[in-house]
Amino acid sequence: MTDWPVHGRIDGPIVMIGFGSIGKGTLPLIERHFTFDKTRMVIVDPNDSDRALAEKHGVRFVKAAVTQDNYRELLTPLLSAGGGQGFCVNLSVDTSSVAIMELCREIGALYIDTVAEPWAGFYFDKSMGPEERSNYALRERVLDARRRNPGGPTAVSCCGANPGMVSWFVKRALLNLAVDLGDAHPDPRSKEDWGKLAQRLGVKGIHIAERDTQRSKKPKPMQVFVNTWSVEGFVSEGMQPAELGWGTHEKWLPANAGTHSKGCGAAIYINQPGANTRVRSWTPTAQAQYGYLVTHNEAISISDWFTVRDESGDAVYRPTCHYAYHPCNDAVLSLHEMFGQEGAVQEAQHILDENEIEDGIDELGVLLYGHEKNAYWFGSQLSIEETRRIAPYQNATGLQVTSAVLSGMVWAIENPSAGIVEADDIDFRRCLEVQTPYLGPVVGVYTDWNPLVGRPGFFPEDIDESDPWQFRNVLVR
Ligand SMILES: NC(=O)c1ccc[n+]([C@@H]2O[C@H](COP(=O)([O-])OP(=O)(O)OC[C@H]3O[C@@H](n4cnc5c(N)ncnc54)[C@H](O)[C@@H]3O)[C@@H](O)[C@H]2O)c1
Repeated sequence: MTDWPVHGRIDGPIVMIGFGSIGKGTLPLIERHFTFDKTRMVIVDPNDSDRALAEKHGVRFVKAAVTQDNYRELLTPLLSAGGGQGFCVNLSVDTSSVAIMELCREIGALYIDTVAEPWAGFYFDKSMGPEERSNYALRERVLDARRRNPGGPTAVSCCGANPGMVSWFVKRALLNLAVDLGDAHPDPRSKEDWGKLAQRLGVKGIHIAERDTQRSKKPKPMQVFVNTWSVEGFVSEGMQPAELGWGTHEKWLPANAGTHSKGCGAAIYINQPGANTRVRSWTPTAQAQYGYLVTHNEAISISDWFTVRDESGDAVYRPTCHYAYHPCNDAVLSLHEMFGQEGAVQEAQHILDENEIEDGIDELGVLLYGHEKNAYWFGSQLSIEETRRIAPYQNATGLQVTSAVLSGMVWAIENPSAGIVEADDIDFRRCLEVQTPYLGPVVGVYTDWNPLVGRPGFFPEDIDESDPWQFRNVLVR
């Protein structure tokens, strides 16, 4: 048995909102790595199908939906009962991250989530335009809350695998690249230093490049949406417009792209659903592959974080950044089925648990491209077998997320008055130190691949041969 370290003490109540695939996987990690009073931990979820599991662990289960109308009355007593600093771990869908985070900060509790989630109804509100339904807009609400109320109790926004861990991978990958390219000063201290390092190394962009090869023991039945994590979460983000951090090297904009007049200005959106938008990318196992350009918070935060500005505030360097996600094969089939029926979601939904998976890995990393050594992938190749061995109640996808939640919680306890932070803002070394035992092989691999390899094929194509790493070449049209 591994001797797991205890990373800290939580001296107030712990309130976990949402007990789905990520909540169930996070519970045993909290038990393993913190000292706390079990009788003061509560799980809140409107679906109590896993109540027995919570109770087996000695944790109280409250069957309730957290809503705009009840969140203050419901959560305030739970987070303050018995004294000490409470910790709210929000792993639900359909609850407003900003509202709950602001409440926590008001009452002095720590807070963490894995996505900038809105209240129920937002994702499928036809009265809202694509810009309003974007992740850019959701992130700006979080940034606005930070501007309005700087400092104070720590709230870690968007700290799962991605968004979350991948921001720490980008920094580790940049430092590795700096060594390999013989950069003389790879010791960035500030946000500005990091941006300048990426600029100096010639990194044009970053794919969050993922291949989930986990295979179900049973073939996917028709009209069931199957995934390795939240179907609801995936469908919601997949129906948002495709979005990406927009790099300063880009020379071509898709005709159906939109830009933002307010906010950080780091991203664009495309007027089509992300889960129906394909891009060319690369991971070590898949090699060249298609991924979906599903909008994600990190695509915007990473591009924003590494932006270098001149004295007048204009961006002189920014990497393009977007997700390139090949989900498990069953999810690819599920998307195909869903978009074939014009986005009408299958009524039956299923998340594959660790016992239903035959084999496979979740290969999740960052592909830094456009530099002198072409492209460098750095990431985790966690298998289902290893996952089963080291942590209960989750598959490989889940463990990459829950171990990032653990890291974010550790960081919050060690830095309880940091205000609202994103994964990019916090100590990547400490977070990866906590998380790495759960990530399986963590590797860095160079590749000669670029999105023009093998093109044009049999048919004429609209490509830019002067620079393989233009988004024009990456986007599948
Ligand atoms: N950052 C990342 O890497 C990452 C990865 C996976 C999932 N996520 C996010 O984590 C969250 C949880 O994912 P999951 O796979 O566990 O999802 P899931 O669908 O398995 O579980 C979500 C849970 O939220 C509960 N819920 C729904 N409405 C609620 C409400 N009003 N109040 C309280 N609980 C409510 C549901 O009953 C369900 O048990 C999602 O928001 C998802 O997008 C982030």
